[in-house]
Amino acid sequence: MINHSLPSVQADDEWSPLRSVIVGRAGRACFPNAPTAMIEATMPSHHVHNFKPRRPFDQKLITKAEAELDYFAAMLQAEGVQVYRPPAGVNWLDVNGYTGAMPRDGLMSVQNTLIEACFAWSCRNHEIEIAYGTILGELARDSRVTIIRRPPYTLADSLLDEDGSKSSPWVINNSRPAFDTADFMRFGKTILGQLSHVTNQAGVEYVQRSLPAGYKIEILEVNDPHAMHIDATILPLREGLLVYNPQKVTEEALLKHEVLANWDLRPYPFTPKEPEDPVLYMTSPYLSLNALVLDGKRVVVEASDQQTAKWYESLGMKCITCPFRHVNSIGGSFHCATVDLVRDSTVKH
Ligand code: NVA
Repeated sequence: MINHSLPSVQADDEWSPLRSVIVGRAGRACFPNAPTAMIEATMPSHHVHNFKPRRPFDQKLITKAEAELDYFAAMLQAEGVQVYRPPAGVNWLDVNGYTGAMPRDGLMSVQNTLIEACFAWSCRNHEIEIAYGTILGELARDSRVTIIRRPPYTLADSLLDEDGSKSSPWVINNSRPAFDTADFMRFGKTILGQLSHVTNQAGVEYVQRSLPAGYKIEILEVNDPHAMHIDATILPLREGLLVYNPQKVTEEALLKHEVLANWDLRPYPFTPKEPEDPVLYMTSPYLSLNALVLDGKRVVVEASDQQTAKWYESLGMKCITCPFRHVNSIGGSFHCATVDLVRDSTVKH
């Protein structure tokens, strides 16, 4: 599977031509069994009651989500992208876990380095090994690649203060590094990230220490009381063009970052609503910003989301549509469901 002309991991932005990618698989996915305080801090309040220990998502929903993921993977392969998939049929109920459909939360490529998240939610502790361990082993056979697995000390179950007190806007404390990789977006040598209910300052420092030389993290100021994952807040469609969610971030905050200084910054102009069926158990309805850019010219958008597709086209993008509403229901869209492993960077940022 290794293409010997390019390293098996080499990507440092969100828009250069995509050559190799992981596409997740749902398996027997369950509502994640995180402590109530963590669920209440991050999940849509009207769905919090669904998050019960050892509760699988409805099997019909999962079957449809798997079909969408398979179709999406086949579409990427037809575009010439090398696609890695986790094993089929993982029973997340058996391991008290969540799913293998959302690899972006737990893996981030930066240049030739692949970083594993130090998840805040302990129900996700084994997710990377179970779903992607074989893929990581295969990628690691390339000596040009560094894979940074999660060290045991970051598994400490210490993130919630026992007396329920909070000294910051976030539900987690800073007692050990915690971060989901989906709280970061790569813009070349600069990576924009956010502090959130799953990413603390110690986690940001851990990621900074793990980056190849010359790369740096800058923290974006967001207005998101439920913050968990930055990939429905900002979406770079190509070098120089960024779409942002004006409910969560301002142009002024974005312009504090030198890397965006000459960019065309466009507020997402619609107010999306949650579909009635299937519902969005785990996210806001702003999943149109959770898109996957194939090469700075083409972007994958959800098949029913015609208004966003038209708007992205008015910004000069070509939209490839793909049904994904059932994947959306269990946690995210095309960006969440993928990890780009290799992109051809043409510009040195
Ligand atoms: N938690 C964020 C990002 C989801 C991909 C949201 O719900 O908008």
